[in-house]
Amino acid sequence: TMVAQDTQLLPPSDEGIARAAQLLRAGQLVALPTETVYGLAGDARNSDAVASIYEAKGRPSFNPLIVHLPDVDSAKELVIWNERAQVLADAHWPGPLTMVLPLREGHGLSPLVTAGLDTVALRLPAHPLARRLMRESGCALAAPSANPSGKISPTTATHVMAGLSGRIAAVLDGGACPVGVESTIIGVYDDETRLLRPGGLAVEDAEATLGAPLAGAGEGIIAPGQLTSHYAPGASVRLNATSIQAGEVLLGFGPMACTINLSEKGDTREAAMNLFPALHQLDAMQPKGIAVAPIPNTGLGLAINDRLSRAAAPRD
Ligand code: TXA
Ligand code: MG
Repeated sequence: TMVAQDTQLLPPSDEGIARAAQLLRAGQLVALPTETVYGLAGDARNSDAVASIYEAKGRPSFNPLIVHLPDVDSAKELVIWNERAQVLADAHWPGPLTMVLPLREGHGLSPLVTAGLDTVALRLPAHPLARRLMRESGCALAAPSANPSGKISPTTATHVMAGLSGRIAAVLDGGACPVGVESTIIGVYDDETRLLRPGGLAVEDAEATLGAPLAGAGEGIIAPGQLTSHYAPGASVRLNATSIQAGEVLLGFGPMACTINLSEKGDTREAAMNLFPALHQLDAMQPKGIAVAPIPNTGLGLAINDRLSRAAAPRD
């Protein structure tokens, strides 16, 4: 049972950041901007705070959280580091990359963060407000995307407020998120380096850094029927549409007539930035359905198609 809270919208000023840091140190939840999407942050060493993250999102407690850190040294204190992690960190941290690594003994994180696994997901966000907040609070921040579980991810403070107002202490307003899709998650395991979720770092770029293909990357998009529903707008979503049916709106890509175009010039990076705002906007129009034009699986297109396939998956 949750107590309703008066959620404060904090400006990105010194005072706003100081207030957000104070709330986090006190075990409260603050939504903060990162370059990918807004995160719902709590002190990763405080089990009460972490438990309230799951509660505020309505997230099943077996789905582990990402821990956000200010620097690589803090990461090395938590996990058993390796050479491939170092190579990826040198090239892509801070940035839209999350690495899953084996936990080190005496790590001090709440066991709720990892949902009992012996690995943990770590990320160094590049967003200047996220970095300042981590430094000023002194907290390692457990932060899933700041949306109710299963709903469209938030890329503005307004999206966060619409989904979580009354359930969290504050939102730090940093404007729109420049990458627009969640981080790419890579498992940097002893025996393999595996793509766990496509995201804001293109798979091609990660593979170029490693000089080797990622396990799991060539497996493509699983049939939508096998995907659990996620990122779900109110309307049904129909992929690879070449024309629209009665009552549908069209989410376009490349030069075409449509309701909202993700990128007229056909750029997957621009399309990723526009994806979640477009879904929020189309959803607000309450159409009968959302038809989506084909989007290539290259660059950030892989992450876009992953999110859209989940949005199109049958709801439970
Ligand atoms: O860009 C992002 O990654 C955003 C921002 C806020 O940082 N965060 C985000 O968190 O997308 P979330 O909770 O929505 O997604 C985290 C994903 C989940 O699918 C979870 O299952 C996976 O990371 N994950 C976390 N810990 C893991 C672990 N030890 N092994 C495998 N997967 C893990
Ligand atoms: Mg999420």
